Amino acid sequence: MMKKMQIAIDGPASAGKSTVAKLVAKKLGYIYCDTGAMYRAVTWAALQKGIAVTDDLALAKLLQDFSLEFVPAEPEQKVLVNGQDVTKAIRMPEVANNVSAVAAQASVRTDLTQRQRDIAQTGGIVMDGRDIGTTVLPQAEVKIFLIASVAERALRRHKENLEKGIPSNLKILEDEIAQRDYKDSHREISPLVKAVDATEVDTTSLNIDEVVAVIMDLVAQKEK
Ligand code: DC
Repeated sequence: MMKKMQIAIDGPASAGKSTVAKLVAKKLGYIYCDTGAMYRAVTWAALQKGIAVTDDLALAKLLQDFSLEFVPAEPEQKVLVNGQDVTKAIRMPEVANNVSAVAAQASVRTDLTQRQRDIAQTGGIVMDGRDIGTTVLPQAEVKIFLIASVAERALRRHKENLEKGIPSNLKILEDEIAQRDYKDSHREISPLVKAVDATEVDTTSLNIDEVVAVIMDLVAQKEK
């Protein structure tokens, strides 16, 4: 029986973390946990209830009566908040524009970090986010820090938008990504930093299969 590991994948917005994490989880038969979706789900609920996204106390209260579930489904797993399917809603611009503020609140980070540790407890997990290797699962067997240039990440998002028929402006995307990088890296609690023992993978000139292969190699080394 192969050891069931914890695999932490961190990095800035749009570096390809979720795409790669899902593929690695599938190959290994592991659970995939998208922690960004958890911060987005809290943001969605706060907006629904008219709670200010910087009101730490009110957010703490919201989280007392907040069930969050990932349900396996094709083509992608569903995110349920108190039983309601919010998979699509959490990707809307209103949520995207407010999530950095919610993710900077102490009560939210403490609560979601605990939920993430509970989910990862049995091993056999690929978790992606910003602080997984540093804070949530410092003991993870495999830690990856995925990066790519701002220009490349904006271009990938731009192509994705055009494919989906979403109006898209490359320059605006570049600005938004640079701003999100700044906010994620400069917040007080659990900022985006590479764990000292993480392997940095620059995906600027790698395709998805190549990135997955790099990670699978690291996993294989740990299994020896
Ligand atoms: O990966 P994403 O774009 O879905 O993340 C949404 C936001 O949540 C982003 O602003 C960073 C934040 N986040 C975080 O602070 N910690 C995590 N572990 C995951 C996401």
